Amino acid sequence: MRLSPLLFPVVLLQSLFAAAEPIAIPHDAALLAAAAAAEVRHLAHRALPNSPSHGYKPAVVPCPATKPKIRSAGSLSPEETAWLKLRRNATVDHMLNFLKRADITGFDAEAYIKRAAANISALPNVAIAASGGGYRALMNGAGFVAAADSRTTGATDKGGIGGLLQASTYLAGLSGGGWMVTSIMANNFSTVESLRDGSPGSSIWDFANSIFKGPEESGVGALNTATYWGDILEQVASKEDAGFDTSITDFWGRALSYQLINAPEGGPAYTFSSIALTDDFKQGRIPFPLLVADGRAPGTKIISLNSTVYEFNAFEMGSFDPTTFGFVPTRYIASNFSGGVIPADGKCVEGFDQAGYVMGTSSSLFNTFLLANISSFEGVPQFVVDAILGVLSNLDADNNDIAQYAPNPFLGWNNETNENAHSFELDLVDGGEDLQNLPLAPLLQPMRNVDVIFAVDSSADTPYNWPNGTAVRATYDRALSPIANGTLFPPVPDAHTFVNLGLNSRPTFFGCDPANFTLSEGQVVPPLLVYIPNAPYTAMSNVSTFTSSYPDSQRNDIIRNGLDAGTQGNGTLDAQWTACVACAVLSRSLARTNTAVPSVCTDCFTRYCWDGKLDSADNGPYEPKFKIANGTTAASGATAKGLGSAGGLVGAVLVFSLVVLLG
Ligand SMILES: *[C@@H]1O[C@H](CO)[C@@H](O)[C@H](O)[C@H]1NC(C)=O
Ligand SMILES: *[C@@H]1O[C@H](CO)[C@@H](O)[C@H](O)[C@H]1NC(C)=O
Ligand SMILES: *[C@@H]1O[C@H](CO)[C@@H](O)[C@H](O)[C@H]1NC(C)=O
Ligand SMILES: *[C@@H]1O[C@H](CO)[C@@H](O)[C@H](O)[C@H]1NC(C)=O
Ligand SMILES: *[C@@H]1O[C@H](CO)[C@@H](O)[C@H](O)[C@H]1NC(C)=O
Ligand SMILES: *[C@@H]1O[C@H](CO)[C@@H](O)[C@H](O)[C@H]1NC(C)=O
Ligand SMILES: *[C@@H]1O[C@H](CO)[C@@H](O)[C@H](O)[C@H]1NC(C)=O
Ligand SMILES: *[C@@H]1O[C@H](CO)[C@@H](O)[C@H](O)[C@H]1NC(C)=O
Ligand SMILES: *[C@@H]1O[C@H](CO)[C@@H](O)[C@H](O)[C@H]1NC(C)=O
Ligand SMILES: *[C@@H]1O[C@H](CO)[C@@H](O)[C@H](O)[C@H]1NC(C)=O
Ligand SMILES: *[C@@H]1O[C@H](CO)[C@@H](O)[C@H](O)[C@H]1NC(C)=O
Ligand SMILES: *[C@@H]1O[C@H](CO)[C@@H](O)[C@H](O)[C@H]1NC(C)=O
Repeated sequence: MRLSPLLFPVVLLQSLFAAAEPIAIPHDAALLAAAAAAEVRHLAHRALPNSPSHGYKPAVVPCPATKPKIRSAGSLSPEETAWLKLRRNATVDHMLNFLKRADITGFDAEAYIKRAAANISALPNVAIAASGGGYRALMNGAGFVAAADSRTTGATDKGGIGGLLQASTYLAGLSGGGWMVTSIMANNFSTVESLRDGSPGSSIWDFANSIFKGPEESGVGALNTATYWGDILEQVASKEDAGFDTSITDFWGRALSYQLINAPEGGPAYTFSSIALTDDFKQGRIPFPLLVADGRAPGTKIISLNSTVYEFNAFEMGSFDPTTFGFVPTRYIASNFSGGVIPADGKCVEGFDQAGYVMGTSSSLFNTFLLANISSFEGVPQFVVDAILGVLSNLDADNNDIAQYAPNPFLGWNNETNENAHSFELDLVDGGEDLQNLPLAPLLQPMRNVDVIFAVDSSADTPYNWPNGTAVRATYDRALSPIANGTLFPPVPDAHTFVNLGLNSRPTFFGCDPANFTLSEGQVVPPLLVYIPNAPYTAMSNVSTFTSSYPDSQRNDIIRNGLDAGTQGNGTLDAQWTACVACAVLSRSLARTNTAVPSVCTDCFTRYCWDGKLDSADNGPYEPKFKIANGTTAASGATAKGLGSAGGLVGAVLVFSLVVLLG
C-alpha cells in the first residue's frame, strides 16, 4: 500500500496530531533506550531490540563478509543442523524426568533414554503446534504450553505433563497460535503464568483493554488511545519513509505487539531473528520457534491447498514446497536478492523481520478485523482511521489481507516452479487461509525427523466455534497432492466423523501404526499426530475469533481450560493420561529401536488411536457439554452455544463483506 502522501513526512504528521490534541508523541531512539533502561519489571525482557534503525523501520547495513544468499531447500540450514545437536542433547534429561514421572509400568525409562542418548537418532523428537483462531487460540494454546512447562505451578505433580515442553525440539504457531509462540519467545521464554499475571506497569497479555483501545496508562482513556494510535502510525510511517511498502499488516502487527512484547511501545526494534541471538537459544536450552504463512500468487486472490506454505524461523524464512523451494536468512529478508544472490553493488537490509510484523503476517486475516472495527472505537484519531481505511481505496478489498514482502527475496529464484519468481513483491497471507489452520508443514519435513506432534487445535469450524478436524484433514488432503512432494501425513477422516465419533472432543492419536504407511522411494513414515482439540473442560472456551477484549477472569479460565485439555483435568478424566502422553512420545522411537511396546502403551493406543472407522452422517449441530465442571467463573461472552457465530473462514467472509460495504 501507499499511505496517503498527505500524512507524511512524520513532521507533518506530528503537526497534524499536535493541532488535534496537545500531546507529546515523539519517541526517538535515545528516549526509548532511556525508557527501557529505567524500567524495572519482574518479567524478563525479551529477545533483542537489535534493529539497526533502533526503531520499527528496516535500515541499510554493510553486508557481512560472506554475503547472505538464498539456499536450496534440499537440506536443513547449517545453522539449524548445528543447533539441533545442542538441542537434542539438552532435551535428554528433561525427557528422562518426564518419562520417569509418567511411570509406565514395566518400562525402564532411565535405561532406555540413556541408551538412546548415546545415539541421538534413537531419541524421541517432539514438536508442539498451536493453531490459529485469534485470542481463543492464543489462550487455549497457552494453556497446553503451560501444562507442558515444568516451570508451571503443579505441572510436574501427579496427573501433569510438565517437562514435555522442555523435552520438545520444535514449537510452532500459526496466526493466534503464532502470537502465543512469539510472545513467549520474544519475552525470554517467559512462562505462560508470568505472561498471564504480568507485572505492574506492563500491558503484557492484558486483553481486557482491546487492541483498538490500547494499553491503560495514567490519564484520560481517549487521550491514551490517541497517543497509542498516533505512535503506531508514526512507526509505520517511518518504514514507509525509509522506502518500504507498508500494508495493513504493519498496523496490525504493531498493535499486537503492545500486548505481546513486554517492552515500551511493543518493542519496535525487536526482530524475529534476534531470538537466535539470545543465550538460551544459542545453548539449545529452548525449543525452535516456527511461524507459518501462505504465499499468494501474483494477480490472484485465491489461497488453496496448492498455495505455497512459508515458514519463519529464527534463522531463515522460506519454503520446502517444490514451488519456491528455498530459504533466505530471516535477518536479511528485505535485501535486494536476485536469482538467489545480492548483486555486487547491492546492499544489505536488516530489521524487516520485525517481530510484530512476522506475527502480523501469520495472522493477516485480522487485517479485515482491524478495518471493520477501527472507525467505531472511541478515541482513535480520525487521521489514523483515514490512513488505515485509505488502504482500501488503494488496494483491492480482497487483497487487504496481504503482508507485503518487498523486495521479494525469491525474485528470479527457481523461475520454473516459483510462481512469485518474477514479482518484485512477495505477498504473504495468514497461514490458516488454506484451511491448514495448524502449522504442520514445517514439522512434516523428513529432514527434521519429528516423531510426534502435539497439535492443539483451537479452530472455529462448527457454528459454535469448536474445531471439527478440518485443519488436519486439509493437511492430509494436501499430502495426497503433488504440492506435498511426497511428504506423508497420517490419514484423518471427514468432519462429520470427527464430530460423530467425538474425535474433536477428546485427544485423538492419528497414524499410530507405522506399518499402515506404504512408502515409495525416498518417503519416510510421518510423525504420530496427537490431536488435542479445544473442548469445554472447565470453561466454555469457544469465544468468537473476532472478540477483541477479554476480562482477566475469562482469559484465565480459557488458559486453564487449555491446561485441563492438556492434562485431562490433571488425570480426572483418565488417570493414565500422563502415561499415554509418554507413550505417544516414545512410539516412533520404540519402533525404530525394535523395542517391545509396554502394555500400558498398548492400552493407551487402543483408547486414543483412531481406528479408521468412519461415520459421515449429518447429525446436526455440535453442542458439547462440560467435560469436567462448569469452572468458577463462567466464560462471559460464551455460552454452551457460544456467542460468536463467525468462525474461521466463514467469519472472514463476513468481515470481507463488511469491508466491501464499508469501502
Ligand atoms: C532470560 O532468562 C534466563 C533464564 O531464566 C535468565 O538467566 C536470563 O537472565 C534472562 N535474560 C534476560 C535478559 O532477562
Ligand atoms: C549434553 O548435555 C549434558 C547435560 O545437559 C551436558 O553435560 C553435555 O555437555 C552435553 N553434551 C554436548 C555434546 O553438548
Ligand atoms: C542409531 O540408531 C538408529 C536407529 O534409531 C540405528 O539405525 C543406527 O544404526 C544407530 N547407530 C549406532 C551407531 O548405533
Ligand atoms: C492443485 O494442483 C494439482 C496439480 O498439481 C491439481 O490437480 C489440483 O486440481 C489443484 N488443486 C487446487 C485446489 O487448485
Ligand atoms: C521436492 O522438490 C524438490 C524441488 O522440486 C526436489 O529437488 C526434491 O528432491 C523433492 N523431494 C523432497 C523429498 O524434497
Ligand atoms: C532495492 O531495489 C529497489 C528497486 O530497484 C530500490 O528502490 C532500493 O533502493 C534497493 N534497496 C537497496 C537496499 O539497495
Ligand atoms: C469488529 O468486527 C467484527 C467482525 O466484523 C464484529 O463481529 C465485531 O462486532 C466488531 N467489534 C466491535 C467491538 O466493533
Ligand atoms: C529468472 O528470471 C529472471 C527474470 O525475472 C531472469 O532475469 C533470470 O535470468 C532467470 N534466471 C534463470 C536461471 O533463468
Ligand atoms: C467443519 O468445519 C468447516 C469449516 O472449517 C465447515 O465448513 C463444516 O461445515 C464443518 N462440518 C461439520 C460437520 O461440523
Ligand atoms: C489442574 O491443576 C491446575 C494447577 O494446579 C489447576 O489450575 C486446575 O484447576 C486443575 N484442574 C482441575 C480440573 O482440577
Ligand atoms: C491405513 O491406511 C489406509 C490407506 O491410506 C487408510 O485409508 C486408513 O484410514 C489407515 N488407517 C488408519 C487407522 O489410519
Ligand atoms: C456456569 O455456572 C455459572 C454460575 O453458576 C452460570 O451462571 C453459567 O450459566 C454456567 N454456564 C454454563 C455454560 O453452564
